Amino acid sequence: MAALAWLLVLHFHLLSFISPSAGTATTTTLQTSQSLADLALKKVLADSAQVFGEYSPSSSPNKTTTTTTTTTTSRARWMRQIPDAALLTQLSIPGTHDSATWNFSQATRDSLAHNTDPANGVFDAVFYRCQAASPAAALDAGIRFFDLRYALDPTGTALAFYHKAALMSQRATVEDVLFGFYAWLEAHPSEVVILSFQYEGGRPNEPSGYFATAQGLLAGVLTGSRYVLQQRGELGTLGQARGRIVVFQRFDLPTEQQQLLLPGLHFSPSLWPDNGKDFVLTYNTARNLSAYIEDYYEPNDLGGANLSAVAIIDAKVAAVEAHLNKAAGGGDDLYITFTSAEYNLNDPHVTPEIMALGNGTELTPQGGVNQQLVGVLKGLRGKRLGIVVLDFWDQPGDVDLVGAVLGL
Ligand SMILES: *[C@@H]1O[C@H](CO)[C@@H](O)[C@H](O)[C@H]1NC(C)=O
Ligand SMILES: *[C@@H]1O[C@H](CO)[C@@H](O)[C@H](O)[C@H]1NC(C)=O
Ligand SMILES: *[C@@H]1O[C@H](CO)[C@@H](O)[C@H](O)[C@H]1NC(C)=O
Ligand SMILES: *[C@@H]1O[C@H](CO)[C@@H](O)[C@H](O)[C@H]1NC(C)=O
Ligand SMILES: *[C@@H]1O[C@H](CO)[C@@H](O)[C@H](O)[C@H]1NC(C)=O
Repeated sequence: MAALAWLLVLHFHLLSFISPSAGTATTTTLQTSQSLADLALKKVLADSAQVFGEYSPSSSPNKTTTTTTTTTTSRARWMRQIPDAALLTQLSIPGTHDSATWNFSQATRDSLAHNTDPANGVFDAVFYRCQAASPAAALDAGIRFFDLRYALDPTGTALAFYHKAALMSQRATVEDVLFGFYAWLEAHPSEVVILSFQYEGGRPNEPSGYFATAQGLLAGVLTGSRYVLQQRGELGTLGQARGRIVVFQRFDLPTEQQQLLLPGLHFSPSLWPDNGKDFVLTYNTARNLSAYIEDYYEPNDLGGANLSAVAIIDAKVAAVEAHLNKAAGGGDDLYITFTSAEYNLNDPHVTPEIMALGNGTELTPQGGVNQQLVGVLKGLRGKRLGIVVLDFWDQPGDVDLVGAVLGL
């Protein structure tokens, strides 16, 4: 992988430096190298496809990808119109929760069964799947925050994507998928992408030592890339971050000193309360910079099993609405609102998909969170919302959820 990574860096380097007026001999050398680098990029993009989605830099859309908007603003470049001096905390940023799960159909889950140990409690695909469209498609549609859950792959040699115990792909490594983001950022240098890396630990059969190996690999990848903004402990301005990835660290290294060497913002899992409707995490103690977060993913304070789906969906919508109202209230603090949820105390379960979209029957006459969220967002149009993390961001197809987050 190291040699391949080097070739890809060469690829991007050549993209910026090849000059048509270069001498013949030089041009030949460069073109030979470039085609090898092109091949390397193609290989990595093919390897990453099951998690990143199909992506080809040459056919990268340069137009509005939503059918419902009349705006001339390109969703693939919506940050271009915003001044460099804008603070990232002052933007409304659409995001996706469990972004790697988009192709975790039952067919994908069955094809990975030999690697996804059923003893670890792996359920049907529908329990894990939170998206229907890929990160590559999401980027073009304006999504700029991605929730990525990683751990070592079953061979213990590379970083792979998981949702709880379920492996998402045995081919797409974290490093491969990062090259997908790099390639996209090369084509969209005005944009900033926030990647949240959460260690998906606690799988019962995970060998000891996997955690340390995974952390070492991830630290190497994040600190070694010129596409990753190396600034630590603060978000800064859009101008400082354009063309780069901002990292959220949802994992703990063994010491605070090691953690401080990593780029981005640290949100310690030990401080992240489970199922919180409204909590504060300080990511920079020296400067007292904090994030206000809603991550109420299982409305289990309603009490009990087999509650009405409407009551569960309404409780989630209420928590989201309250948090978005708070975000809209001003200040420079970072706000993160997760609109994603499930309800596993019911039998049958209210899956992430039913939660987001309803189940299409009189059981959920108002649809799911997504249908109701559009109204909430329209009521807050023009206000700063912070990061809004969606499930099934592109559905239902007749509403423009991303546009509503962007205030369009
Ligand atoms: C999505 O999953 C299906 C079923 O496993 C697979 O055939 C297809 O290649 C996957 N798509 C991508 C882009 O990897
Ligand atoms: C994409 O669109 C922008 C402005 O709309 C233009 O400046 C740029 O050249 C376009 N790029 C491609 C590859 O078409
Ligand atoms: C830190 O900021 C919060 C508001 O975000 C404020 O309530 C608190 O008093 C501040 N603490 C210090 C030590 O300044
Ligand atoms: C919930 O419903 C399922 C299926 O009808 C049933 O088996 C289960 O006992 C119910 N649970 C409770 C606590 O009522
Ligand atoms: C909707 O949920 C109800 C109650 O769980 C179930 O009986 C029905 O089959 C579901 N309909 C669909 C289309 O999933």
